[in-house]
Amino acid sequence: MQKPEVLMIGPYPAWDMDELHDRYVVHRLWETDDREAFIAAHGAGVRAIATRGELGASADLMRKLPMLEIVSCYGVGTDAIDLGHAKAHGIRVTNTPDVLNEDVADLGIGLLLATARQIPQGDTYVRAGDWGKVAMPLVTRVSGKKLGIAGMGRIGQAIARRAVGFDLEISYFARSRKPDLPYGYFDDLVALARWSDFLLVILPGGEATKNIVDAQVLGALGPDGILVNISRGTTVDEPALIDALENGRIRGAGLDVFWNEPKIDGRFAALANVVLQPHHGSGTVETRKAMGKLMRDNLAAHFAGAALPTPVA
Ligand code: 8YV
Repeated sequence: MQKPEVLMIGPYPAWDMDELHDRYVVHRLWETDDREAFIAAHGAGVRAIATRGELGASADLMRKLPMLEIVSCYGVGTDAIDLGHAKAHGIRVTNTPDVLNEDVADLGIGLLLATARQIPQGDTYVRAGDWGKVAMPLVTRVSGKKLGIAGMGRIGQAIARRAVGFDLEISYFARSRKPDLPYGYFDDLVALARWSDFLLVILPGGEATKNIVDAQVLGALGPDGILVNISRGTTVDEPALIDALENGRIRGAGLDVFWNEPKIDGRFAALANVVLQPHHGSGTVETRKAMGKLMRDNLAAHFAGAALPTPVA
């Protein structure tokens, strides 16, 4: 029986690639210099797209795949997948929720600590031999302060559980109050930022949250405030953020996501008050293995005519 044809948008770790090649005819889109020609040559029989959270699947791409049945996403964020087009054309979409919650939450707290306590800067100070010559600057306490969380979904709640351990007072911004949660609620992000010592962004990407952290929010967070973004780069007005960082309108930022990844704005590298990560919230062996298996299980279930483990509504 002919193996189903799968268009792979970007690479996965070897343990996923081997499994996929065993079960499917895999077309590796990222290896071509001419995507249009590649899709014209190989797209006719493609029944599935295997993509990643940051790579998605556009309507333009899906239109070029007449046999497409499913988009299986390695990642929880589906903002780069045209869900409207998929729904309108009966194309199923799956993602990998929950398996990455704990790692992304860990990195969020880790970025807060690293930025406030200047852990990378301290490492550089010791390696440079400055210890004993010039004093390491005094930095910012984390414990006992006020943490504002923008986005209180499953990852936001995992972050809050960790924050309790640091005696942080927690409030959140979300579309609606979650009455079962013991945290303060703000229906206005500017007001939350004004209340917060630290503002951590874990909102979904997409048009509804584009640039939601803007100059007004950053101004409300203020010159002693620290921003952490582990959601999507699009949730922050990046020129406004860079301006605030360059001019001391906020104290610092811990960033795992950016506009135009991986070719991010070069001005970040010149800033001493940021900690930068390469969109690595879920980037542990354990979590990426779980994500890869879930992405593959969704494909296998689809082609077996079984219920999808994690369909996107
Ligand atoms: C993914 C992400 O691990 O889950 C998401 O939506 O942004 C990341 O956590 C990444 O997209 C995988 O390449």
